[in-house]
Amino acid sequence: MVKTARPDVKGFYDEKTGSIQYVVSCPQTRKAAIIDPVWDFDEKAARTCTSHADEILAHVASAGLDVVWILDTHPHADHFSAAPYLKEKLGASTAIGEKVVEVQKLWKKIYNLGDGFATDGSQWDRLFKDGDTFKIGELDARVMFSPGHTLASITYVIGDAAFVHDTMMMPDSGTSRADFPGGDARALYGSIQRILALPDDTRVFVGHDYGRDGRRPMWESTVKQQRSANIHLRGGTSETEYVRLREARDAELPLPHLMLAALQVNIRGGLVPAPEGNDVSYLKIPLNQFAGPSDVCGEGT
Ligand SMILES: [Fe+2]
Repeated sequence: MVKTARPDVKGFYDEKTGSIQYVVSCPQTRKAAIIDPVWDFDEKAARTCTSHADEILAHVASAGLDVVWILDTHPHADHFSAAPYLKEKLGASTAIGEKVVEVQKLWKKIYNLGDGFATDGSQWDRLFKDGDTFKIGELDARVMFSPGHTLASITYVIGDAAFVHDTMMMPDSGTSRADFPGGDARALYGSIQRILALPDDTRVFVGHDYGRDGRRPMWESTVKQQRSANIHLRGGTSETEYVRLREARDAELPLPHLMLAALQVNIRGGLVPAPEGNDVSYLKIPLNQFAGPSDVCGEGT
């Protein structure tokens, strides 16, 4: 039997959003991919900066890596994507799942964007289809659609490592929410089952962790650990049970505080809207389009 290749994986933690960015590389060729890089945003000053992306660039340089892909798993709701910045610095191709065009259409309506906003995914170099394969040096990479958290979410399976982003979290933290526009708890359950059907020793790298009960943030587990210990999945949780649990939990969660800022950057592939006549770019916030479990403003107020 051919042994599955084992990529080198380094996670970079963004404390502010609890996001993990990854550099995954081929030990033989030093070719590499960056997954879900964060473009920092200070919402109080509405200022962007590239501290985290620069940390990744420093790692790439010191490890002598040749980055060939900059990959996003989905349009994120909690941070801006640093893909365009890293592409400019490294010359690598950007990619995301092809269903991103549906997310673009959905949010184009919410933001009332004009005809000038293309909803064809042309903001990325490549749009992956389910089952697409590609290479990172000698590593085989495969795309698995994983809808539920968003309708465009994908998992990258690279050698023995699965980058599952916002499907499941670390075993003690359960699974990710499915209540954003285009989210679906039932679809998420199906996506998780497909990930759990990967070989037991597949390394699972999650997209978020916030620490839990005093433990430090962590991001690596295995399919076997997820199947046996994930608090939302262990014991073979049924689809009906899962959907009930997920929807009840989501109803209690406030929206991510950067969602309405982040999506309008991320549906542009990580670019801010074109500058206006004064050379300043603006984000717009749609009023009264979302309800949250807030005790200040309930639904419909
Ligand atoms: Fe997400």
